[in-house]
Amino acid sequence: MRTSHVDSVNDISPSSGTVVQLPGKRWAVYRDEVGYASALSARCTHLGCLVQFNDAEQVWECPCYGSRFATDGSVLHGPATRPLEPHEVPGAKD
Ligand code: FES
Repeated sequence: MRTSHVDSVNDISPSSGTVVQLPGKRWAVYRDEVGYASALSARCTHLGCLVQFNDAEQVWECPCYGSRFATDGSVLHGPATRPLEPHEVPGAKD
């Protein structure tokens, strides 16, 4: 499970995700196998813990109570019932 943070979405390898810290907000950013990046709110919708990316299973997981989210933010496993909110990818370069 990935716990480190990066400063730019451009530092994320394909087929990987991590939490990106930008002023005032943390984003859960995933880069797919062809390099397309997508961003979600990094706060679990259950009680607000920061999610982490599971590289082996390609899902976002919450370390607090075990909610799991797909790379599009949809809930795969509770207790969370609401998806992670999608956002424009912060600071991405073409
Ligand atoms: S805060 Fe994430 S599962 Fe509860």
